Amino acid sequence: MSTDFSGQVVVVTGAGRGIGRATALSLGERGAAVVVADLDDAVCAEVVSAIEASGGKAKGVAASVADWAAAERIVDTAVRGFGRIDALINNAGYLARSPIWELTPEDFEAQVRVHLFGTYNCTRHAVTHMMAQGYGRIVNVISRAGLVGAENSSAYAAGKGGTFGFTNSIARDLVGTGVNVNAFNPAATSTRLVFDNQTQETIDRMKSVVQEPEHVAAVATYLASRACDFSGQSFYVEAGAVSPFPVFTPDRTAFTNGMWTPEELAEIMPKFKFPALAKSLYVNPTNKA
Ligand SMILES: NC(=O)c1ccc[n+]([C@@H]2O[C@H](COP(=O)([O-])OP(=O)(O)OC[C@H]3O[C@@H](n4cnc5c(N)ncnc54)[C@H](O)[C@@H]3O)[C@@H](O)[C@H]2O)c1
Repeated sequence: MSTDFSGQVVVVTGAGRGIGRATALSLGERGAAVVVADLDDAVCAEVVSAIEASGGKAKGVAASVADWAAAERIVDTAVRGFGRIDALINNAGYLARSPIWELTPEDFEAQVRVHLFGTYNCTRHAVTHMMAQGYGRIVNVISRAGLVGAENSSAYAAGKGGTFGFTNSIARDLVGTGVNVNAFNPAATSTRLVFDNQTQETIDRMKSVVQEPEHVAAVATYLASRACDFSGQSFYVEAGAVSPFPVFTPDRTAFTNGMWTPEELAEIMPKFKFPALAKSLYVNPTNKA
């Protein structure tokens, strides 16, 4: 099983910057022909040039994943331009922060449209090609916000949380087809999404704690490769730490032989550990204090 992409074609959405850009470069270095999809020609062209400069093949497509027809153009750029589509990385996204009492219907819809509908649109167009060839990899970029919440991010979280359920559900639909679907959620990463609209003081403070897009790109590249032989899994990626995101685990489950009473649960449930509210879910034991 290999992380070599020679002869393979991979679409990366939101590939013009940040995590998507780093992933597109990583795939290009490993022999993939890369479709660089983003909102405007200039950002796509810069990444295409960077891939070509290191000997790789790439094509740019300026299109919004939020739009059904534009998403078809993204997938067609792979299928018509390079003859096939082996992997799709649904990475495009943005975050517009506001508390729920200020969140407008337009902002709510726009964020859900990019993250959830965008993932559906590209996946739906790509999956029939993948099923016909009996092979495919779909990688969805989700977020801790969508799993455990984040302040001022409810629209973003709704889009990402929906994408988490979407990932796990289509993985079930696709069992036996050769198409694997997985997702990962990056911890705070040094990109425009994190630093936009922040005060200089916040940016300076965050710069020392965020991971680099390349930390995340390695995971995206592996999940998009032939070497990834599982489906329906989600991972948390924080610099040098990668871990499966647990939904139900026996060690954090209370069991009874019969039926719980609310009174018993009032004793037991407050004792569950809720790591979601910690600043960081995990402490990397390889870090030197
Ligand atoms: N940076 C983080 O800390 C972090 C954490 C968790 C999840 N994520 C997710 O990672 C992904 C990449 O974000 P990033 O941090 O690299 O941000 P980024 O802003 O650097 O890059 C995102 C790219 O997506 C593009 N994009 C936005 N809307 C699009 C659309 N409708 N169609 C096509 N392209 C579109 C943007 O133009 C941009 O180039 C996003 O899905 C984001 O939600 C990021």
